[in-house]
Amino acid sequence: MEQIRNLVGMGDMQKSWWDALYSRCCDIIEHPDDYIDSCRGKILATMFFEPSTRTSFSFQSAVLRLGGSTFGFSDPLGTSVSKGETFADTARIVGAYADTIFIRSPLEGTAAAAALYSDVPIINAGDGGHFHPTQTLADLTTIAQERGGIGDIRVGLCGDLKYGRTVHSMVEAMALFPGVSFYLISPRELRMPDYVLAQMRTHGQEFIETESFVESIPELDILYMTRIQRERFHSSAEYRRLKGVYILTKDLLKDAKPDMLILHPLPRYGEIDPEVDSDPRAVYFEQARYGMFIRMALLLEFLHLPRMAPAPLMGDSTEAKCQNPACITQTEPYLKQTVSPGGPARCRYCDKEL
Ligand code: NCD
Repeated sequence: MEQIRNLVGMGDMQKSWWDALYSRCCDIIEHPDDYIDSCRGKILATMFFEPSTRTSFSFQSAVLRLGGSTFGFSDPLGTSVSKGETFADTARIVGAYADTIFIRSPLEGTAAAAALYSDVPIINAGDGGHFHPTQTLADLTTIAQERGGIGDIRVGLCGDLKYGRTVHSMVEAMALFPGVSFYLISPRELRMPDYVLAQMRTHGQEFIETESFVESIPELDILYMTRIQRERFHSSAEYRRLKGVYILTKDLLKDAKPDMLILHPLPRYGEIDPEVDSDPRAVYFEQARYGMFIRMALLLEFLHLPRMAPAPLMGDSTEAKCQNPACITQTEPYLKQTVSPGGPARCRYCDKEL
């Protein structure tokens, strides 16, 4: 099994690594008391440049249940970031005090940038509309626990596939499992971004893109609902036009498979009617709890990794600038771009074409 040092995107994950992590997670679920001192003296730093409830609290709960501690901020206004400190310096400094850093930011590529400057592991807790790998760990755990394994499933991803970072990471992770195909259900304006579709083609993942929610439901083994991400829209008129486009009701579930699972990373904002909550196929609240256990398994590994100077940049450097207005390189212009041979040149932080 190859050790990974940072969890920036799901591309860092190998199947053997997942298998070991999941098996540790199962043991934690069964014997939580065996782990209460397993991270004593270890410290997790949390840097939240964007709001969070589940992700932040589940990680804090995870580290406390392992006997470790946590410090951090949920509002950068109280830190030197507000004095204009570069992100690179902030990442170095926080890494000097903690054993692992956990970062959420509205800027795409923030965790990838932090990994270039920190001596301790970086965990991406969501970077703008890009990736959210630890939510995917929670999603995979839910599917594995509720179905007894992952594979040979048709997964419907529904809602805001453009800005929904959870679905981007989910698709990338699913490339490791056999027989997983996708229904990508969204309005045209919120289609899956090109870099994710390109990745799906490279991995040979089967998918169809559709706007029809009702016709897709009977085909699915997993229905993954997402929120329309108001905070990422440039136009509030467009947000208002698209919100409420797909609403899962009890009535719509009549045609669904009896063992279909309904997942949602939460928070929901109207896209699942609360009357669905009592349906045994609805597992989104269990999903939040599984998220805490798999994060415990992840921290158990990362908090014990030795400090190490960050790996140097791979690939040839280029002067090309990323044009994505939500990319970390817009506010941290010293970040270098590199290109790997073959395929279109992509930003090494946010994955958009350069
Ligand atoms: C998601 C996120 O932040 O991307 N929530 C989460 O982490 N559980 C989804 C969302 O905010 O809609």
